[in-house]
Amino acid sequence: MIKNWWKKEIAYQIYPKSFKDSNGDGIGDIKGIISKLDYFKYLGITLLWLGPVYKSPMIDNGYDIEDYYNIDPQFGTIEDMVELINEAKKRNIKIIMDLVINHTSDKHIWFQEAIKDKNSKYRNYYIIRKGNNHKPPNNWRSLFGGSIWEEIGNTNEFYLHTFTKQQPDLNWENQNMREEIYAMINWWLKKGIAGFRLDAINCIKKTDFSKNGEPDASDGMCNCLEYVREIEGVEKYYQELKEKTFNLYNCVTVTEAVGVDKNRWKHYVGKNGNFSMMFNFDTTYIDVIDEDWFRRTDWTKKEFKKIFMQSQNKMQRVGWQATFIENHDQPRAVNKYVINPEERNYYSKTMLAVMYFFLRGTPFIYQGQEIGIENFKRNTINDFDDVNTISQYYRAIDEGYSKQEAINFINMRSRDNARTPMQWSNEENHGFSVSNPWIKLNENCKQLNVEDQIKDKNSILNFYRKLIDIRKNNIYGRTLIYGKFKQIQIDDDEIIAYSRYDKHQNLDIICNFSNSKKELEFNPKDIVLNNYEKTYTNILMPYQAIVIKNN
Ligand code: NOJ
Ligand code: CA
Repeated sequence: MIKNWWKKEIAYQIYPKSFKDSNGDGIGDIKGIISKLDYFKYLGITLLWLGPVYKSPMIDNGYDIEDYYNIDPQFGTIEDMVELINEAKKRNIKIIMDLVINHTSDKHIWFQEAIKDKNSKYRNYYIIRKGNNHKPPNNWRSLFGGSIWEEIGNTNEFYLHTFTKQQPDLNWENQNMREEIYAMINWWLKKGIAGFRLDAINCIKKTDFSKNGEPDASDGMCNCLEYVREIEGVEKYYQELKEKTFNLYNCVTVTEAVGVDKNRWKHYVGKNGNFSMMFNFDTTYIDVIDEDWFRRTDWTKKEFKKIFMQSQNKMQRVGWQATFIENHDQPRAVNKYVINPEERNYYSKTMLAVMYFFLRGTPFIYQGQEIGIENFKRNTINDFDDVNTISQYYRAIDEGYSKQEAINFINMRSRDNARTPMQWSNEENHGFSVSNPWIKLNENCKQLNVEDQIKDKNSILNFYRKLIDIRKNNIYGRTLIYGKFKQIQIDDDEIIAYSRYDKHQNLDIICNFSNSKKELEFNPKDIVLNNYEKTYTNILMPYQAIVIKNN
């Protein structure tokens, strides 16, 4: 087992727009993040992943980059960014940035040049094809709705966009374009960041554009994923990317690559893989089909457990993962995984935390997860901000669902659920800002905020601090970081149990993923961590989670 520095980190994801506003404009910013660095120190965080803060028109909240070399004025300046890196460093915290290189904003100078002049060298930085009499080259649907193609003026020439039409995809076949991206990456690494999270990286290669897909909805289009994601050969781009950038630094790279078959994980994190770690998405979309929020599944705990265990077994054979249950694209975990609203409480939230936190990999916590924020409930589409949510709402209606049904789907899955302002205190605007925030607040702040939870030694927040401590401390840390993973075979779909072990010790992680009591033999004397105060021999309480040292 190679002990790379990033294996022992505890990571935290910040959604900059909603983390902390320092200047009263209702939008989170870099100075706001700097003002909260001591909070991370208090929690025990060692690595921060910052969502995109580059100059952007913010159609997709920064995932549409206009200028890779500048910070958006909403967030601050390059000087603020450098200050953040330095201030974090004083507290032994490293910063990683979001790297969005599958696409740019349509306001990026390259794209502006490309559409202005047919002979511009930038034309070939993007993916542009002839249409059929002003109809798109094929029937692929973009991930955020509508055709994946957009006509440039009235030219019968179309550019491809996997996400919104304001996010044209870059053409990775173009060596000049690639070199410009590499220079930019190295420029940032030289500034002292510790690495990157790579956005939608497995979309950078596409298949043959002549293919139409079988229509799968009333718009006559087909989901584009089969044609733009995880296309065989994409790994050759990874290799060059790594060689010309990341390999020159001792940096960390974390991929966002959804939908990668297990036999291709090796290209990411195998012995000759190209990245440090990959987010494990195996159970992330268990509730929906093809990432369409109105196509709900009836997933079961049995299925969950099977996917969960198979995934961990395989990952251990291949390489290193980033483990997580929430991010800025997902609803709050407790809402996704605990179906009955009455069971969404301290116990189920801390159980979910234990379940993923001690897996073999680097754990990531998403802002607000550590205080147990839940989804909101909104009644009208006007209260939503996210482009994808709006697209999913209208697609549901097009598929024949009522407005109410469409609202229910998006309440369950909207990305806005994770993007409401961080709940710092019970004060106005949740202590996030002195003025009205850019997005409507979540209503559950009274019970769930940082200030109150710091004072309460039995809070979710203080439970997270314990998790973090156990993974870092001298007694258990080594085993929980570098130790092996093994499923504990228990014939109950609602008990998720595994061991982490090495030659020094064996730690069993046992989670009751249900609201019923379960009979199980264990010795309470061996308990290292418990989300209940009292423990009954041979009984697991509802949503109880324990860690046991059994040798
Ligand atoms: C994945 C990001 O996590 C998501 O927020 C974004 O909308 C898309 N990639 C497009 O960049
Ligand atoms: Ca601000």
